[in-house]
Amino acid sequence: MQIHIDHGYLEYERAGQGVPLLFIHGYPLSRRIWDAQLDGLAGQALMVAMDLRGHGDSFPFEGPYMMDLLAEDCQKVLEHAHIRPPVVVCGLSMGGYITMALYRKYPQLFKGMILTSTRAGADTPEGKASRQASIVDVIEFGAGYIASGMSQKIVSPYTLSTQPTLVKTINGIMAKTSVQGIVGALQGMMERPDSTATLKEVNCPVLILHGVDDQLIPIKEAEKMRRVTPHSRLVRIQQAGHLLNMEQPEHFNQAISKYLSTLDQA
Ligand code: MLT
Repeated sequence: MQIHIDHGYLEYERAGQGVPLLFIHGYPLSRRIWDAQLDGLAGQALMVAMDLRGHGDSFPFEGPYMMDLLAEDCQKVLEHAHIRPPVVVCGLSMGGYITMALYRKYPQLFKGMILTSTRAGADTPEGKASRQASIVDVIEFGAGYIASGMSQKIVSPYTLSTQPTLVKTINGIMAKTSVQGIVGALQGMMERPDSTATLKEVNCPVLILHGVDDQLIPIKEAEKMRRVTPHSRLVRIQQAGHLLNMEQPEHFNQAISKYLSTLDQA
């Protein structure tokens, strides 16, 4: 499905029946990372998986993509998809930064929050410098260059050696991202605020999911979020890295399924 905004469009899809659940992918990925969830959770959740601006099949808008702007896009997609709040929002990595921005704007939208492979803190000066270098690289060499640089680290060493087809699929998803999308997301992430204070105030149940072998955002970041977030639980997924939902879909889906059933009872 397509929603027209700002002289461009966003693509999204709906699947399943049950608890409303919005999936927000990370950088530089697309809604395709959620295929195993759209399939595996269809009996329990009414899911919306969207392509963020500049990513997947969405229009390659010029950046910067501030996290607030991306959060507004998510809200528009939910409205367009006729999803009645409250909803559960599941964000992976940059999708987690967007989820926290969405909570700041629309806390009443949330029935639950799932933070996966993400962190609360803002970028360090070194982190910002590395994003600047990536902006120069993507403009000069294209998305394929960024994709091949990330593909060794975006999954766990175990996945890298046991699931070569999955690694190729992920590489293809990243390489398809527009240059505008990569630049816009990097610019937006560099400027994002620290969300620790937001997490302290979240008053819905929060599930934190993290791969034990995440090489991009170490699990200690998830442990920090767990400590500051009042109604939260951390599930550590073994033999999984940054894309745990693709690397260990059964364990990931089981954790979400259990969480959704506790929400139903609440
Ligand atoms: C992501 O997967 O969205 C990124 O690794 C997040 C980041 O670069 O901070």
